Amino acid sequence: MTRSKYIIGNWKLHKDNKEIDKFFAAFNKLVTTDDSIVYGFAPTHVCLAHALKAKKKTSTLIIGQDVSSQLEGSLTGQVSAKQLQVLGLKYCIVGHSETRQFLAVTDQDINKKVLALIQCGIKPIICIGENAKQKAHPEKVLEKQLTTIFKHVKPEEACQCLIAYEPVWAIGSGLTPSLNKIKETTNFIRKTIKQLFNGIVANKVGILYGGSVGVDNALDIMKQKDVDGLLIGSVSLDPKKFTTIMKKVSVWKRK
Ligand code: PGA
Repeated sequence: MTRSKYIIGNWKLHKDNKEIDKFFAAFNKLVTTDDSIVYGFAPTHVCLAHALKAKKKTSTLIIGQDVSSQLEGSLTGQVSAKQLQVLGLKYCIVGHSETRQFLAVTDQDINKKVLALIQCGIKPIICIGENAKQKAHPEKVLEKQLTTIFKHVKPEEACQCLIAYEPVWAIGSGLTPSLNKIKETTNFIRKTIKQLFNGIVANKVGILYGGSVGVDNALDIMKQKDVDGLLIGSVSLDPKKFTTIMKKVSVWKRK
């Protein structure tokens, strides 16, 4: 089966409403929408409603950066999956390493966030990845992360999830694993999904790579057999660079 291709921008704590307007004014002039690519941007929660209006193009997805593990409760500062659903979001990132690092989010929390999103019909984009110390042998940590995060998730629900493989040491560092290593590790992730669920799920789940993706390396990374997409941080802030990556991927896909 052919899986969709994904190019997702994670804007982190960048861009306010005015800057989002400016981004989409430029982006919409540059982009030539290729329906076969699923693409979108994740602004901060406070800018989601504005971004949904400002994007103008229906093909542009607006994506959550994180979500509470609870649907409701005394949880100051949190945003629920239900609230994201009411806004009309279709996807939400969970488990980004910055939330693990700065908000002490654990794999158990991520598991609950995934279940909450699924309950509200939102597709989770689940970030996993090894840190610098685990770099030589990422398999063990990735397997542990996936096993915990997918607890109580049914096979048909797992099919709705995307997995973003983001080595922590590659995020924002300008460093990436070799293409061969990306190929091996994303293949290992797919095999682990097969073990946790079955071959059908493993074939359906989209696997993204993230961590220092730029205009020059995006296409080579996309060409790896088990890579279905990219999760892009700093380079996604620039409409020109982001659309250049989109174009490279769609030209290659059409070949
Ligand atoms: P980067 O960030 O592309 O700036 O390395 C990726 C991410 O954190 O998702």
